[in-house]
Amino acid sequence: MLVREDLNVPLKDGQVADATRIKAAVPTLKDLQARGAYVIVMSHLGRPKGVDQSLSLRPVAQELGRALWTEVKFAYDCVGPQAQSGVSRLQPGSVLLLENVRFHPEDEANDPAFAQQLASLGEIFCLDAFASSHRVHASVVGVAQYLPAYAGRLMEAELNALHAALDYPKKPLIAVIGGAKVSTKIGLLNNLATRVDALIIGGAMANTFLKAQGHNTGNSLIDDTAIEAANQIWKTMGQRLVLPVDLVATQQTMSGQPLRVFPATNVEAGWIAVDIGPQSVNLFAQHLQGAGTIVWNGPLGITEVPEFSAGTKAVGEAIAGSGAYTLVGGGDTAAAVDALGLAGRFSFVSTGGGATLEYLEGKELPGVAVLKEA
Ligand code: 3PG
Repeated sequence: MLVREDLNVPLKDGQVADATRIKAAVPTLKDLQARGAYVIVMSHLGRPKGVDQSLSLRPVAQELGRALWTEVKFAYDCVGPQAQSGVSRLQPGSVLLLENVRFHPEDEANDPAFAQQLASLGEIFCLDAFASSHRVHASVVGVAQYLPAYAGRLMEAELNALHAALDYPKKPLIAVIGGAKVSTKIGLLNNLATRVDALIIGGAMANTFLKAQGHNTGNSLIDDTAIEAANQIWKTMGQRLVLPVDLVATQQTMSGQPLRVFPATNVEAGWIAVDIGPQSVNLFAQHLQGAGTIVWNGPLGITEVPEFSAGTKAVGEAIAGSGAYTLVGGGDTAAAVDALGLAGRFSFVSTGGGATLEYLEGKELPGVAVLKEA
């Protein structure tokens, strides 16, 4: 069984720094082991251009072994003699991790000959790498041309969660969207605008909406290219668009600086909004209280600086305590949730970054399309 996982985890000093994605792969792999499959796992790590030993999956093999309580063998290449010899030594229920598929540029090029080489290692293809399902790469979609393809348990859980939250949500459906740039999330905002009962905006993104409405935003970060788009979304949504009413601002975006709270309509010159203020937290929490479903993507302030993270934490608490079906994901949101001590308090936290964002934009994910065809 050839399994594509997304084991693209952060490394620090050659060790796995966050094993969330490794743990998320466990249900599928354990299930296959229990059924006596010869489990051959492939993944990418980082964005190497050719072979780059600092992005070897070797440390990930050790961590995967710990997560599975089993020895995970490692092959120093994902195709060719090294991979073949690793596969030939497998026993029923044992696990082999192949080296980073991106050490071969043919993976990202979705090269058919490379996909065929990968496919020749197994008899059935299990696509479990939801977080890579927006990539038209050989190890994600190419292999499915040569082997019968099935979704793994993580893929299934991710799609069920997104589907439940967006396609048949318990109403009211509320989206909380933060982050810095409107321009990278226009597709997502436009798609959500047609589906949600309320769209709550925070983070630097809110500044662009406030500026579009003619308010003073001081020296806050503005996405100038997206003023028009923000205006359009505002016109489409009317009262369903919920913006901050007050903002915490500083004169320098670093720890230990004096902070002031301004009305969101008037941040003075020289001041930079870095978090939502207490009245905004109350307003957002009021909206969230009656929600049936909440989708959250993006922090509501600069959460890397502890003094600027109070708004995100308070709204995160309100989401977690709302009683609604809560879905968190996309970009660095899951990491922010962990750092703020909110882990384990939501219905589902997606392992996807770009893939989750593309789903929220309403795009069909190529990895999902290939499974539907199969
Ligand atoms: C991610 O981290 O979002 C996925 O692993 C995809 O990685 P990529 O953006 O390098 O394709």
